[in-house]
Amino acid sequence: MIPTLSLLPLFFLLAKSAVASLFTHPSQLRSTTYDYVVVGAGTAGSALASRLSEDRHVRVLVIEAGRSDNGTDVVNIRIPFNAPIATPGTPFDWNYTTVNQGSLNNQPEAYPRGKVLGGTSTTNYLVYTRGASNDYDRLATVAGDDGWTWDNLHPYIMKHSSFVASADGWIFALISYGGHAKLTFIAGHNTSGQFDPAWHGNGPLRTSAPGFPTVIDSRVMATTQTLPDEFPFNVDMNSGNPLGIGWTQSTIANGTRQSAATAYLGPILFRSNLDVLINTQVTRLIQTGRAGGKPDFRGVEFAQSATSPRHRATARREVILSAGAVATPQVLLLSGIGDRGALSRLGIRTIIDNPHVGNHLQDHPFVPLQWEVNSNETFDQFSYNPDAAAAALDQWKYNHTGPFSTNPIANHLAFLRIPENNLIWEQFEDTSSGPHAPHYEIAFDNLYISTSMENRPTSGGFLSVTTIVTSPTSRGYVKLNSSNPFDPPLIDPALLSTDYDMAIMVEAIRAAQRFVDASPWDGFIISPSVDSAQTTTIDSIVEYSRRRGATSDHPTGTAQVGKVVNGDLTVKDVSGLRVVDASIFPYVPTAHTQAPVYIVAERAADLIKAAHRN
Ligand SMILES: Cc1cc2nc3c(=O)[nH]c(=O)nc-3n(C[C@H](O)[C@H](O)[C@H](O)COP(=O)(O)OP(=O)(O)OC[C@H]3O[C@@H](n4cnc5c(N)ncnc54)[C@H](O)[C@@H]3O)c2cc1C
Ligand SMILES: *[C@@H]1O[C@H](CO)[C@@H](O)[C@H](O)[C@H]1NC(C)=O
Ligand SMILES: *[C@@H]1O[C@H](CO)[C@@H](O)[C@H](O)[C@H]1NC(C)=O
Ligand SMILES: *[C@@H]1O[C@H](CO)[C@@H](O)[C@H](O)[C@H]1NC(C)=O
Ligand SMILES: *[C@@H]1O[C@H](CO)[C@@H](O)[C@H](O)[C@H]1NC(C)=O
Ligand SMILES: *[C@@H]1O[C@H](CO)[C@@H](O)[C@H](O)[C@H]1NC(C)=O
Ligand SMILES: *[C@@H]1O[C@H](CO)[C@@H](O)[C@H](O)[C@H]1NC(C)=O
Ligand SMILES: *[C@@H]1O[C@H](CO)[C@@H](O)[C@H](O)[C@H]1NC(C)=O
Repeated sequence: MIPTLSLLPLFFLLAKSAVASLFTHPSQLRSTTYDYVVVGAGTAGSALASRLSEDRHVRVLVIEAGRSDNGTDVVNIRIPFNAPIATPGTPFDWNYTTVNQGSLNNQPEAYPRGKVLGGTSTTNYLVYTRGASNDYDRLATVAGDDGWTWDNLHPYIMKHSSFVASADGWIFALISYGGHAKLTFIAGHNTSGQFDPAWHGNGPLRTSAPGFPTVIDSRVMATTQTLPDEFPFNVDMNSGNPLGIGWTQSTIANGTRQSAATAYLGPILFRSNLDVLINTQVTRLIQTGRAGGKPDFRGVEFAQSATSPRHRATARREVILSAGAVATPQVLLLSGIGDRGALSRLGIRTIIDNPHVGNHLQDHPFVPLQWEVNSNETFDQFSYNPDAAAAALDQWKYNHTGPFSTNPIANHLAFLRIPENNLIWEQFEDTSSGPHAPHYEIAFDNLYISTSMENRPTSGGFLSVTTIVTSPTSRGYVKLNSSNPFDPPLIDPALLSTDYDMAIMVEAIRAAQRFVDASPWDGFIISPSVDSAQTTTIDSIVEYSRRRGATSDHPTGTAQVGKVVNGDLTVKDVSGLRVVDASIFPYVPTAHTQAPVYIVAERAADLIKAAHRN
C-alpha cells in the first residue's frame, strides 16, 4: 500500500509570501460590490470561498462573525486532545443554550457552535464520517435532483479530502542526494487494513487513522471476532456502507487539527480576488429589487456589535448563506423570510411567508455509559495528574506526537442496525434511509465521558461507550426571540422527544452492554461506574437517558431542501440567494455531520459556477 502524501507544505510557502486579504474592520474592504458574498466562513463557507475564488475573474467577499483561528490565547484549538474544551465559554463559540428539553427532565442544554474561521470544523471533535449511501440517495429523491445521489457525488467525495499518515504513522524523511530529493519510509504505525485507500482522494482536507494506540483497541478488535454477527469489523466506514465497527478517521494531519480554515481558507488568503472580513456579523439580507418576478436578495448588512454602525455590500451574482443550522434560519427570519405571524409579532416585515424557515430542526441524541477498568493507562490520568498532562503537552509541542496528537473521543466507532426480527419493528416503522444506514452509533472511549459533573470520579481508569440515535424522528426549531440580530435565537432540538427515538436509544444502550459483556473484556472491566450503574432494566435505561441525555451537536434541517430551498439550494421564491450548510439536509445524515457538509459545499460550488457560466 502506498500512503497518500500531502503537498500542503508547498501551499504554506506560497501563502506566506503573498498579500493578506484578511480584514478585521469593514472600512478595510477593497470594495462594496462583489460577485459573490458568502455569509459565514465556517465549514461550508470556507470551502465555497476557496472554490468560487479559483476563478480569478470573480471577486468574493466572505463575512465571518467570529475571530481568526490562529489564536492560542485561551486554548490551543489545533491540539487534537483539546477538542472537548474548545467549546462553550471560550471566545471561539457562540455560547448558545437550548430551551428546556421536556424529554431530558426539562433541563436546558449547552448548544455549542464554532464562532471562528472554519466555524464548527475548528471546534468540533474531529471525527470524519460520511454516512450511508442511502442518506444521499434519499436527499436526491427529496431534491428531485439525481446529482445528490451517492454515486453522482463521487467526484466531490474524492475531491474534498485525502488520507494521510497518523501522528504515530508512516514516518517519512526527505532525503536529498545529488540534487534530487526522495521521500523515504523510516518507521511507524502500519495503517494497512485500517482504511480502504480506494475511498480516499487527494483533496485539501487531510484526515487520518488514530495517531496514538490505546489500551482498549485490541479488546474492541477482539470483540469483532468473538461477536462477528452483531459487531462485524468494517475496514472503512466511509465507503457508503458504514455498518459495523471500524477505526475512527479524524480531521487530523501531522498530529494537528485540520479544519475548513486550515484546509481551504488559510492556503488561499493571498488571492487578490478574495476579501475575508472577520469579527463582523451579518445582521440581515437586504432586498435589492426584483428579478424574474421574485424579490432579489443580493444585499447584505453587517456590523461589529449591536451598537456599532451598519455597513452594506452587494453581490452581482449571489449571496450565499453559510451561517450554519442555527444562524442561517436566524438571518433568513431577520430578513423577512419566514412565518408571517411570528415575524409580525416581532415587528419584522414579511417579504416571503414560509413557515418552514427554522422549523424541523433535527439533531442526534447522545447518552454516555462508563465502566471502571483495570488499567492506569487510560486518558483519565491527564485529568488527575498534572505532570502527566504537562509531559504529553511537551511531547506534542516538540514533535506533534503522543496522546495529545490523537482524537481523544474514540479510536473505534460502530454504526449498527437493529435486526428485522426485533420486536420494536412491530411498534414502529423504520426511519432509516435504507439498508446501509445505521439505526444507532456507539463509540468506544478510552476515558470517562459524561454529560454531568455528578458522581465524577477523581481516580481510576474508565471505559466509556457513548450511544447515538442516527435517524431520529424528533423535530424541533430555531426561532427568533427578538428582532435584535445580536440576541441569541430560541433553540429547541427536542432531543429524545419521540417514543421511537427513546426505543432506539434503549436498543443502542443494550447493544453497548452486550459488547462489553463479551469475553475480551474479562479481567479488564471492573464494574459499571457509579453514575451509569442503574441501567439494568428498560425502565432504568429510559430514566438514565432522560437524566444524562444530551446533544451530539449535529443540528440540521432548519432551511431544508424541499421546504426552504430548492434542489439546487437556491432559496424558494426569491432570487440571488442560496443556502449552503448543514441547514439544507431534509434528514440528518447517519454521520457526524462535517463530512456531509463538505460534500454538499463542493457540489454547491459547481452548481453556483454553472449557474453563472455564460
Ligand atoms: C462540539 C461539537 C463537536 C462536533 N464534533 C463533530 C465531529 O467530531 N465530527 C463531525 O463530523 N461533526 C462534528 N460536529 C458537527 C460539525 O462540526 C458541524 O455539523 C459542521 O461543522 C457544520 O458546518 P456548517 O458549515 O453548517 O456550519 P459552521 O461550520 O458552524 O459555520 C457557520 C459559520 O457562520 C458564522 N456565522 C454565523 N452567523 C453569522 C452571521 N450572522 N454573520 C457572519 N457569520 C456568521 C459562524 O461563526 C461560523 O463560522 C460537532 C459540532 C460541535 C458543536
Ligand atoms: C455563556 O452563557 C452563560 C449563560 O448561559 C453565561 O453564564 C456565561 O457567562 C456565558 N459565557 C460567555 C463567555 O459569554
Ligand atoms: C502493513 O501491514 C500489511 C498487512 O496488514 C502488510 O501486508 C504490509 O506488508 C505491512 N507493511 C509494512 C511496511 O510493514
Ligand atoms: C494562520 O497561520 C498560518 C501559518 O502561519 C497561515 O498560513 C494562515 O494564513 C493563518 N491564518 C489566518 C486566518 O491568519
Ligand atoms: C500501572 O499499572 C502497572 C501494572 O498494574 C503497575 O506496574 C504500574 O506501577 C502502574 N503505574 C502507575 C503510574 O501507577
Ligand atoms: C517525538 O518525541 C518523543 C519524545 O518526546 C519521542 O519519543 C518520539 O520518538 C518522537 N517521535 C518522532 C516521530 O520524532
Ligand atoms: C509537522 O509538525 C512539525 C512539528 O512537530 C513541524 O516542524 C512541521 O513543519 C509540520 N509539518 C507540516 C506539513 O505541517
Ligand atoms: C428571550 O427574550 C426574553 C425577553 O427579552 C428574555 O427574558 C429571555 O432571556 C430570552 N431568551 C433567550 C434564550 O435569550
